[in-house]
Amino acid sequence: MSANNNHDIKDASLAEAGLARIEWAYQEMPVLRVLGERLGKQRPLDGLRISACLHITTETANLARTLKTAGADVVLCASNPLSTQDDVAAALVHKLDIPVFAIRGESTEVYYQHINAVLDHLPVITMDDGADLVSEIHKSRNTLIGKMLGGTEETTTGVIRLRAMAAEGALRFPVIAVNDAMTKHLFDNRYGTGQSTLDGIIRATNILLAGKTFTVVGYGWCGRGIAMRAKGHGAKVIITEVDPLRSLEAAMDGYRIMPLMEAARQSDFIVTATGDKHVVDQAHMDVMKDGCVLANSGHFNVEINIPALEAMAVGQQRPRASVDEYTLEDGRRIRLLAEGRLVNLAAAEGHPSTVMDMSFANQVLTAVYLASDQYKLENTVHNVPADIDQQVASLKLAAMNIQIDQLTDEQQHYLSSWQEGTE
Ligand SMILES: NC(=O)c1ccc[n+]([C@@H]2O[C@H](COP(=O)([O-])OP(=O)(O)OC[C@H]3O[C@@H](n4cnc5c(N)ncnc54)[C@H](O)[C@@H]3O)[C@@H](O)[C@H]2O)c1
Repeated sequence: MSANNNHDIKDASLAEAGLARIEWAYQEMPVLRVLGERLGKQRPLDGLRISACLHITTETANLARTLKTAGADVVLCASNPLSTQDDVAAALVHKLDIPVFAIRGESTEVYYQHINAVLDHLPVITMDDGADLVSEIHKSRNTLIGKMLGGTEETTTGVIRLRAMAAEGALRFPVIAVNDAMTKHLFDNRYGTGQSTLDGIIRATNILLAGKTFTVVGYGWCGRGIAMRAKGHGAKVIITEVDPLRSLEAAMDGYRIMPLMEAARQSDFIVTATGDKHVVDQAHMDVMKDGCVLANSGHFNVEINIPALEAMAVGQQRPRASVDEYTLEDGRRIRLLAEGRLVNLAAAEGHPSTVMDMSFANQVLTAVYLASDQYKLENTVHNVPADIDQQVASLKLAAMNIQIDQLTDEQQHYLSSWQEGTE
């Protein structure tokens, strides 16, 4: 362990290896590189204290260095006890001079100690992935509220929590829902979660997916991506949903739709991505096939009712690093991956840098927006301004060397008028 009041990380000697991986990821993050160059000259975040609670990955390291280049005084802690890449944490502290409080596998108690350590930095902007900083500030660090310019939120579950706070009138500073930017969830939640969830499941189990029955619970942005990639592996994909529109969409995308009770009887894999609680419950486990693999890609580890599984089990063993195999009284085995935490981060490396480039470009530009628009925003959850979304999309297209057409003057006029009709 390496700890002082500026950091708490696992092993400083991992810094060299961590930096090499951060640089590797940076090559796939052209939008952040462009923003770094531009904002390094303008320094719009000069001296602003930012506390960020994000997954400590190579991509987050590149976000932090970009914020620092723009002038910010950034500190980081983890947004999940199992997602920290300890080599990245070491590199941030010892190579990039950015304080980090995060150790992979930390207890819940240490997790909250780390949250409070980054709040001791007295942030004026928070960056959350799951709303834990905002929640902690409102619950026990009220004195910070007066100085806050605002917060940003990276994920669907965090936005849901924050909207619930705003609806109760409890939110005491503005927060911007970065998750809801098109250039975030259309790509990160769909393609990022899609690829990395399959990556996590495959790394954890090394079981062939072709020909297997693979159920995705929830056909939101993440579920769509997971289903698409599982289908690509040759799995027979079933979708379970509670929303009629999304069920219909899944049906027309070519998947089988049925209640989870029915899917549970035939599935080799069941993967949750709902942001909801106990969607896989004891009744489903009662009817699962021997060997069924359960994994979660939703934000919190409550989507699978793990306490119920533990109570049902007569035996438990860990045959592989990210697999807990529970044996039930009738001899059936249920295999839980990554302790029910985000499988793509706990058993793989999280989203590929290419998509995080866009998500984190939104974070950077949103922080600049919060910094420039001081005290004018209401204390509620705001959307990312549309011009930021457009800017991120344009920068990404340019980096991909993709050109698109422009509206002519005639077309612009036509699209903004009502006089012309049937001819
Ligand atoms: N693993 C990652 O890296 C990652 C990345 C982005 C988002 N997330 C998280 O994944 C979760 C889903 O995010 P999203 O953007 O796809 O959300 P979303 O709102 O687009 O989709 C969630 C879907 O789950 C469905 N659902 C809710 N309860 C259900 C139930 N009991 N049974 C079946 N379906 C149910 C909803 O109807 C909805 O269609 C959130 O917790 C989000 O924070 C994880």
